[in-house]
Amino acid sequence: MKVVLIGGAGGIGSSVAFNLLRTQTPYDIVIVDNRDNMITSHVMDLQDALSLGGAHTIRGGDASDALDADVVVVSAGVPLILNTSRDIFLHANAELLAGIVDPLVAGGWKGVFILMTNPVDPLLTWISRRTGWSRDRLLGYTLNDTQRFRTGIAQALDVAPQTVSCVIVGEHGAGQVPLFGSVRVNGSPVTLTADQRDVALDYIDNWYLRHVALDSNRTSTWSSGLGGSLMVEAIVHGSETPFPASIILKGEYGVTDVSSSSPCILGPSGLVRVVEEPLTDAEREQFAAAAVKITQLADSIAV
Ligand SMILES: NC(=O)c1ccc[n+]([C@@H]2O[C@H](COP(=O)([O-])OP(=O)(O)OC[C@H]3O[C@@H](n4cnc5c(N)ncnc54)[C@H](O)[C@@H]3O)[C@@H](O)[C@H]2O)c1
Repeated sequence: MKVVLIGGAGGIGSSVAFNLLRTQTPYDIVIVDNRDNMITSHVMDLQDALSLGGAHTIRGGDASDALDADVVVVSAGVPLILNTSRDIFLHANAELLAGIVDPLVAGGWKGVFILMTNPVDPLLTWISRRTGWSRDRLLGYTLNDTQRFRTGIAQALDVAPQTVSCVIVGEHGAGQVPLFGSVRVNGSPVTLTADQRDVALDYIDNWYLRHVALDSNRTSTWSSGLGGSLMVEAIVHGSETPFPASIILKGEYGVTDVSSSSPCILGPSGLVRVVEEPLTDAEREQFAAAAVKITQLADSIAV
């Protein structure tokens, strides 16, 4: 199972590599990046972890390595700067991604594409138009939204996050739609009070702003690296439970040809099916408004 990580010498990519090494799946992992010294640095380090996990090989490579990859994970991006919205990276990252996806199209690559680079929804919408790849093969990483919702609810209810399950759909960003009707603790439905909702909303609405404001020059490398590896595992082995992903919608939630987040069943070919969540009228309006914004952002890309 060949997994190529493009942008793999960055914070997210190297963390995905590390977490894949900790699984028992015999991956052949290739790190591709435009910083050769950082590829070598990570490979020299990670290859000494090989004997402790299930991965078969890890090495550095170049873009041509992606052409026979089963899964390509792209986290290549321009450096993080202070911002209040992931959208400021749209045009610079689209330009960079054009140089990554065009050779894959030209080379007739057939694998599953996971995009982690932000802003993930408009970029994936644009990549879908540019490549013509079927939606099954085009997945955006958005698990963090669910994980933050779980943490926010856990803090609001003063319970352990492991006991919380919940669903969040919509944009990976300000247009996220948390479904409070989906909240369960230890499997039992729980209705949050208005104050408890405010605590959870404050957590999910402001996590990104608070983290970027630290000016630490790093993104959520630990959680996203673990989550990215879990997404690869869900594809390779098939997900028994729905896995959240940004996916090109084909009528689900009343939206078509826009990538936005929903729980999905994943498998070796990528998307098996979208698990459409029931929405209230207000949630449906929020979802639709986010889809309009994602479309406008994708339309604005002129590469
Ligand atoms: N979807 C999510 O939930 C999520 C979570 C965290 C971060 N991200 C996004 O992931 C991206 C990467 O974050 P990071 O923390 O790893 O950043 P980083 O700056 O540490 O890594 C980016 C890497 O991309 C490389 N790169 C740039 N252009 C390239 C090209 N043309 N080909 C190959 N490699 C190239 C850089 O050399 C660098 O190593 C950002 O866009 C970030 O916003 C998404």
